[in-house]
Amino acid sequence: MKYGLPVTLSTLLLPAVFAATAEQWRTRSIYQLITDRFALPAGANRNACNVEDRTWCGGTWSTIRENLDYIQNAGFTAIWISPINQNHEGERPYWGDAYHGYWIADATQLNARFGTEDELKALISEVHNRNMYIMIDVVVNNVMATSTTPDYSKYMFKDPSLYHPYCPIQWGNPESEQNCWMGDDKVPLPDLDTNNPTVIATYKTWIKDLVSKYNIDGLRIDAAKHVQASFWPEFCASAGVFCMGEVFSSDVGGAAQYQGPLDSVLNFPMQNALVRAFSSSGEKNIGAIPSVLDESKQKFRDITVLGNFLENQDMGRWASFSSDMQTTHNAMTFNFMSDGIPVVYYGQEQGFASASDPYNREPLWPSGYALTYTYNITSQLNQLRNHLIRNSDWLSSSVQVLTTNEIGIAIKKGNAISVMTNIGSSPRNDVRVTVQSPFSSSTTLTNIFTCEEFTVNSGASFDITYGNGGQPAVLVPRDSLSGSGLCSASI
Ligand SMILES: *[C@@H]1O[C@H](CO)[C@@H](O)[C@H](O)[C@H]1NC(C)=O
Repeated sequence: MKYGLPVTLSTLLLPAVFAATAEQWRTRSIYQLITDRFALPAGANRNACNVEDRTWCGGTWSTIRENLDYIQNAGFTAIWISPINQNHEGERPYWGDAYHGYWIADATQLNARFGTEDELKALISEVHNRNMYIMIDVVVNNVMATSTTPDYSKYMFKDPSLYHPYCPIQWGNPESEQNCWMGDDKVPLPDLDTNNPTVIATYKTWIKDLVSKYNIDGLRIDAAKHVQASFWPEFCASAGVFCMGEVFSSDVGGAAQYQGPLDSVLNFPMQNALVRAFSSSGEKNIGAIPSVLDESKQKFRDITVLGNFLENQDMGRWASFSSDMQTTHNAMTFNFMSDGIPVVYYGQEQGFASASDPYNREPLWPSGYALTYTYNITSQLNQLRNHLIRNSDWLSSSVQVLTTNEIGIAIKKGNAISVMTNIGSSPRNDVRVTVQSPFSSSTTLTNIFTCEEFTVNSGASFDITYGNGGQPAVLVPRDSLSGSGLCSASI
């Protein structure tokens, strides 16, 4: 905990949630949102946001603050918001306006589109008042331009020699991926020379100041694999907070190289395995999960702090390739009840089913922030996980696969057994998942989604059957629900 001020009564009253470490983030559950698309100010035209226009729809830091109940009531204990720094302004680029926040111009400025310094501070202080964490998305690898010969004076780094010379990326060639420019010839992304000592030193000061000025608890780092891994340890040490990188790769070995340099990466390999295992249009290969899990346990330093997700701002939403929402519920149950930090991209809880960019950055308000079935499932998973973190050995226990068959998988972490299937919502009487119970005989288990109870027989296995369709089941000893508020247990 770092206070830059003398300890007075008022600083003692501040919530102690600044500068959070990996250890602290492990206890969290993250709601990811795009500031422009999460909530509108009162009185704004709610029908004016057309994703195909690729322009600003009006969400701000203040409107996030005004709508935190929706996130907190779903049990989330952290939010990750899209980049806060100044973006390209002026002539509209070929690929539309910078509504998403990733087209950095001058990183020393805030993005005035989303509010003032005081409004950002008010959001973060309200997040902290609720005992939640704030994760800020930062773009370090590159800035944005509308030609390959940009005017460098508008960037934080004004000297062209601090950038790599223009070259288009040859994908698959790691050196080219790190040193050439992302984007395309319409919207090139000038690539900083992150081996240059001036760039390294300037970035270290920049991030230290940004984190302390706004009391940021963690960083999500865009395009982390497009910077050499050796850049990150000093950068993150200077930030002094948890760093979770985007390493867009389903290869476990490739992604794992960036944990160590960074505290964490987003779990792209497991997201890919979940698609392969559960999506209704996919391979339905349940075996992909234990295979990626085993390899992850070997190659990552610590899978308990990876960011487990199904959707993000760059991919078609889960429901765009797996329309049966039952498959979403099963896949997300894995993300919450396994090792790792659950991350839910805004709109997943509303069953949004759009294809990739720009459709997957749709406004949330047309949903009416409804308490959908998927919102409620999300809330139950968070509520249970938050409860087990506070009241059991959840954090120190490692996920184990109890069994798999062609339609399902059972895992155990702490005292929760989660059984997931890929059969979808149609009832099936010809399939089941048989689980050898690790609990002693006569333990009463409760399924937190349905509140059904049953008793473990001595030495026996139990069956999960699908006569009502393929819902996930999360079973915990009834006694351990006390204090959780789930299934009529006390709060
Ligand atoms: C979700 O939960 C809320 C309150 O707990 C309830 O009012 C609502 O009907 C539920 N939604 C669905 C679709 O079951």
